[in-house]
Amino acid sequence: MFTKDFLWGGAVSAFQVEGAYLEDGKGLSIQDVTPHGIFSPPQETVTEDNLKLTAIDFYHRWKEDIRLFAEMGFRVFRTSIAWSRIFPNGDDPEPNEAGLRFYDEVFDECRKYGMEPLVTLSHYETPLAVAKKYNGFLSRKTVDLFVRYGETVMRRYRGKVKYWLTFNEINSILGAPLVSGGIWKDPESLSLSEKLQAIHHELVASAKIVKLAHEIDPDNRVGCMVLALPIYPLTPNPDDVIEAMKQEQQNLLFTDVQARGYYPAYVKRWLRDNRCELRMEPGDGEILRHTVDFISFSYYMSACASASEAEKSGGNIFGGAKNPYLPSTQWGWQIDPQGLRYVLNRFYDRYQLPLFISENGLGARDVLTERNGEKTVDDDYRVAYLRQHLLEVEKAMEDGVEVMGYTAWGCIDLVSASTAQMSKRYGFIYVDRNDDGSGTLRRYKKKSFYWYQKVIETNGEYLHQDGFM
Ligand code: BG6
Repeated sequence: MFTKDFLWGGAVSAFQVEGAYLEDGKGLSIQDVTPHGIFSPPQETVTEDNLKLTAIDFYHRWKEDIRLFAEMGFRVFRTSIAWSRIFPNGDDPEPNEAGLRFYDEVFDECRKYGMEPLVTLSHYETPLAVAKKYNGFLSRKTVDLFVRYGETVMRRYRGKVKYWLTFNEINSILGAPLVSGGIWKDPESLSLSEKLQAIHHELVASAKIVKLAHEIDPDNRVGCMVLALPIYPLTPNPDDVIEAMKQEQQNLLFTDVQARGYYPAYVKRWLRDNRCELRMEPGDGEILRHTVDFISFSYYMSACASASEAEKSGGNIFGGAKNPYLPSTQWGWQIDPQGLRYVLNRFYDRYQLPLFISENGLGARDVLTERNGEKTVDDDYRVAYLRQHLLEVEKAMEDGVEVMGYTAWGCIDLVSASTAQMSKRYGFIYVDRNDDGSGTLRRYKKKSFYWYQKVIETNGEYLHQDGFM
């Protein structure tokens, strides 16, 4: 059974929906110069082939989109603030009022429908100037810039926004240091020392935000946000089990610090083995003790670990060895609904903090058809995916796990982060835009729109209904 106050909703991020990349004083962000997705190197200048420059034009269509979310019954809407709309260069003396006003309107509109905004401060879009001038979170200076930005928006939206997330998928910095940490360096050239230093800066920045959030409004609730990737040993061979443990620790490091307030013992071993040193400033240890109120995470897939060479699977930033028992999406991400129950239990056992699933969904190619004179998509595959995952969430709650809410990723079609494509669609709402940039940007309700509406209306009861329409 889902709790009465379960927060059902959907999630997007600013750069994947807003567009209007230079409007109303916005500065460039790293997303404006990475037209081909997370793993391609940035370009020297902005190029027209970058779908994110217009994205789905949420900047001008937010009223219509939020109305559609309300029609589905959303109780929460997760989005992010584009840092470069507020501080166009990151280190400007004053915030940009037009940028602040835009989010005022968006959050007011959510509240009008009784929808809680869940706001990520940094979702893969460091201002370009901060990346180029300071090398993002490699520099301690960026901690101050980020905290000033965070404080500005938390003061401005006091009373409008109660739920905050600091860094989207904070652990992704290990695999995607530019998008995740704003580090303007060839990822191959980064040493472990540098990565750990940047991680430390993000952890300190996050803890400072938690402290400030509670000072600004004791009702504020701040969560961390990690890319959850349960790692199973590929075989019962103890070598594989140890390998799985080591890989898992790389991800747990982040929640360990953000939820417990100090570095776990295994980090000392990495530092020793790799002869690295972590530069801590006086007071850092104290700051880290400001731990999060809840743990949020994205969940798309699990992975396997093997101590020897094994067939690889694709995946969300981190891949892994291929699990022979699981099917894959059209983009090679392995589908594992039970992994969600597993990860919910693991997090809860480890931290005993409320959990929030802030991303989950199926990226698939959709075909627009017509039914009863209306354009739609028969996305039964998406309904099946979401239903299976949500049933596992319910089981985890029966296991005793405290789950606050669930925001389906890309509740409206948006530009993919990893591939920068439109054709990798997650939404309940189809957006008429193609990979070549053509399309009217009109919105159409998919079959899953009506299904999710029913799920929310029945507070999850409808999940037990097999088949739909
Ligand atoms: C997460 C990100 O990694 O996965 C999102 O937080 C992203 O920004 C989502 O869109 C799905 O990944 P992709 O690459 O299919 O867009």
